[in-house]
Amino acid sequence: MNKLDTALVTSALKKAGFGLAENEKGADVVLINTCSVREHAEQRVLSHLGHLKHIKKSKPNMVVGVIGCMAQRLGAELLKDKTVDIVCGPAQIPQITELVTKALQENKKTLAITGKIRQKSAENKALEELESVFDSDDSQVPAQAYVRAMRGCNNFCSYCIVPYVRGPEVSRPPAVIIEQIKRLAGNGVKLVTLLGQMVNAYKYNSSGKTLCLADLLYMVSEIEGIEWIRFVTSYPAEEYYEQILKAMADLPKVCHYLHMPAQSGSDKILKAMNRNYTAGKYLELIEKARDIVPGIAISGDFMVGFPGETEEDFGETISLVQIARYKNCFVFKYSSRPGTAADKRLQDDVPEEVKKRRNIELLAVQEKISDELAKQFLGKEVKVLVEGLSKKAVSTSSPQAGVSPCGEKGYPPSLKLRRTSPQLVGRTAEDWIVVFDGPAKLAGEFAKVKITRTSPLTLFGEMI
Ligand code: 5AD
Ligand code: SF4
Repeated sequence: MNKLDTALVTSALKKAGFGLAENEKGADVVLINTCSVREHAEQRVLSHLGHLKHIKKSKPNMVVGVIGCMAQRLGAELLKDKTVDIVCGPAQIPQITELVTKALQENKKTLAITGKIRQKSAENKALEELESVFDSDDSQVPAQAYVRAMRGCNNFCSYCIVPYVRGPEVSRPPAVIIEQIKRLAGNGVKLVTLLGQMVNAYKYNSSGKTLCLADLLYMVSEIEGIEWIRFVTSYPAEEYYEQILKAMADLPKVCHYLHMPAQSGSDKILKAMNRNYTAGKYLELIEKARDIVPGIAISGDFMVGFPGETEEDFGETISLVQIARYKNCFVFKYSSRPGTAADKRLQDDVPEEVKKRRNIELLAVQEKISDELAKQFLGKEVKVLVEGLSKKAVSTSSPQAGVSPCGEKGYPPSLKLRRTSPQLVGRTAEDWIVVFDGPAKLAGEFAKVKITRTSPLTLFGEMI
């Protein structure tokens, strides 16, 4: 969601004549897009503001804006910070050009957030207008785009801030989504990812008929130029589940990939989290997915250290991960979010060291599974959509370069060589990361790669 919001802001400001600065020191305006899901993310924003305070000392006219969920959550409190000139919630993003222009001209602080976040508001219309004309963006990965299918969430998992900062669930009209994707395809987009906090709950009433995500997948599949379609995030629920998976099995463009967070393997904890399923039910859903779409890659999210989580509860999470055999998992340490049900009613009673230990342990269990799954690709050919240069695109000719035979650092300094062909990174339809050598101009194109080596998170290979 946040990447998409950043893209929308960038695109709106570029259309208004602004350009991206090289760095903060050279910028007239600095906008920070924020996330409130975990406390850590908010702390990072606050320390970033501390850094901007220093820059502002020598550049008092620089405008600093905080956008997104943290802006909506903290509102006026955030504006009290001397460094901050603009506080703009997710629903006010359509006003960003106006807010920035005004702040540059008038040296006044502005607060733009939603007063009653749980009420359906007229702001949705402005958001829809901004989003539906969004047709390309150069801050994203070439040939890929995110398209929102739904906004907000009505689920109120007890730990989660999202319903309080993103408002009620609203599905966008299919016609608008399709028009937008057609334009994106016309601009060279090949992979489109449909977004929603519970994207599998997508529903839209149109002339007496309710269209669900499966219907949307059929409609997007018809769009010429779009070659791969993904959707995230799925909530473990029966509603539309079979229909969506059958569409995945049926439609060649829909990637065999499902991101479906379990959060915990303990029924006691799942109940306290207000997740409406048991661990057994969750595993049944996974099995069903594998029945309908053989070979489907599934990824998950887990939280460790939720209030009341005992070693036994954590053991049940480990068991679930072992049975589910995810492609990969994201593991988070629980942090209490102000105003949520868990924050109000439950004590954050699992010590930080225990959260840390469980986090490491769970990741280690998953790493072994990912490693086993990755090894199955050895010697196989995969189709990859190239994202661009890998982080290690410039490599050294020998692993010893920079260190002398007797361990002395800095010798021999001249051995750093550039590869004739840089290292590229891309992903398979099932979202496996693939690293291989190839020309940079392949970014945004499909490539065929033979896998020669694997690690738990990455496949390495040679272009064929
Ligand atoms: N603390 C830690 N992790 C959280 N998540 C959501 N809320 C919290 C919280 N309060 C995690 C969930 C979710 C992912 C996006 O973030 O695992 O799936
Ligand atoms: Fe948060 Fe639950 Fe909604 Fe996901 S489904 S955004 S975890 S409230």
